Amino acid sequence: MPESTPQEQISRMLTGYWLSQALYVAAKLGLADLVKAAPRSAPELATATGTHTRALYRLLRALASVAVFAEDEQQRFRLTPMAECLLDAPGSQRALAIMSGEEHFRAFGDLLYSVQTGEPAFDRLMGAPVFDFLQAHPEQARIFDEAMTGVHGRETAAMLEAYDFSGVRVLADIGGGSGSVVSAILKKYTQMHGILYDLPAVIERAAPRLAAAGLANRCQAIGGSFFASVPIGANVYLMRHIIHDWDDDNCRLILHNIRQVLPDHGRLLVVESVVPPGNDPSFGKLLDLAMLVIPGGEERTAEEYRKLFHATGFELTRILPTTADVSVIEGKKFPGQA
Ligand SMILES: C[S@@+](CC[C@H](N)C(=O)[O-])C[C@H]1O[C@@H](n2cnc3c(N)ncnc32)[C@H](O)[C@@H]1O
Repeated sequence: MPESTPQEQISRMLTGYWLSQALYVAAKLGLADLVKAAPRSAPELATATGTHTRALYRLLRALASVAVFAEDEQQRFRLTPMAECLLDAPGSQRALAIMSGEEHFRAFGDLLYSVQTGEPAFDRLMGAPVFDFLQAHPEQARIFDEAMTGVHGRETAAMLEAYDFSGVRVLADIGGGSGSVVSAILKKYTQMHGILYDLPAVIERAAPRLAAAGLANRCQAIGGSFFASVPIGANVYLMRHIIHDWDDDNCRLILHNIRQVLPDHGRLLVVESVVPPGNDPSFGKLLDLAMLVIPGGEERTAEEYRKLFHATGFELTRILPTTADVSVIEGKKFPGQA
């Protein structure tokens, strides 16, 4: 196949949102679930979803052209491996498609504002910072929890492969959301106990999941804000995709609160995309734009993590890359500091 020209490549990038919004509509309408049992035609699907038959056909035809759904000779649509990712199932990408297509799409539409001011467009458009907005909108909050599991799910196995948690007595997952990370770790390390800590409303949704996973006896679910305090009692404090949500001042506050309760020989584990130097492609460099427009945080380089740790009394001991787009950044307390 001939290589595409720079003009073709740019044109594909510029129209990329056509496809992302088509995926959003398919996810929102639950089309994958509707064709799961058997292929169905656009008129059948339009009746089931209360949509316009011809317009729905055009949506499905466009998606089928990129192998999301496939159309047969009777103009019925069926699942493909990519369409299966939009099923309403644990770990699927459906919630991510919905979240990206709604608030996040709007926020990215105002990226110019964020670049001009350095402020998150989300706050201006939605009237509140993202985590306050989610507390006031339970349905979007539920979708957010699911989306985190969908978008970052692959990272959990990669993290477990890269980092040896043996010897950890109690692991606290700070800002642990739905609990998928702490659950996976406790399932692998059967002697370990866990603490899942997040905002109270998030914990209310997560606690039944821990119970359903058979972990109610080994994992405490505690609600609160990491800006006020974090629970005492763990020897390892893990935060995945927490630090990248916040500016340096807020990060220092969170890290300070962890330092207050971390035993002298305890460990801090921050799991994030570490921004590499140079021009190489990196998911972190794009995720960084999402952090700019949505929570107002940022992805950081290894040196920036080292400085952030140092400023809060932690020594950065190791950065372990994983096979996913994240690294495990390990820290320990500098001895002798209050
Ligand atoms: C980007 S998500 C990451 C979730 C999870 N750690 C993961 O990797 O999938 C950020 C999490 O921080 C939580 N969070 C936000 N503000 C918080 C606060 N003040 N105290 C505790 N948790 C908070 C959110 O509820 C959300 O679960």
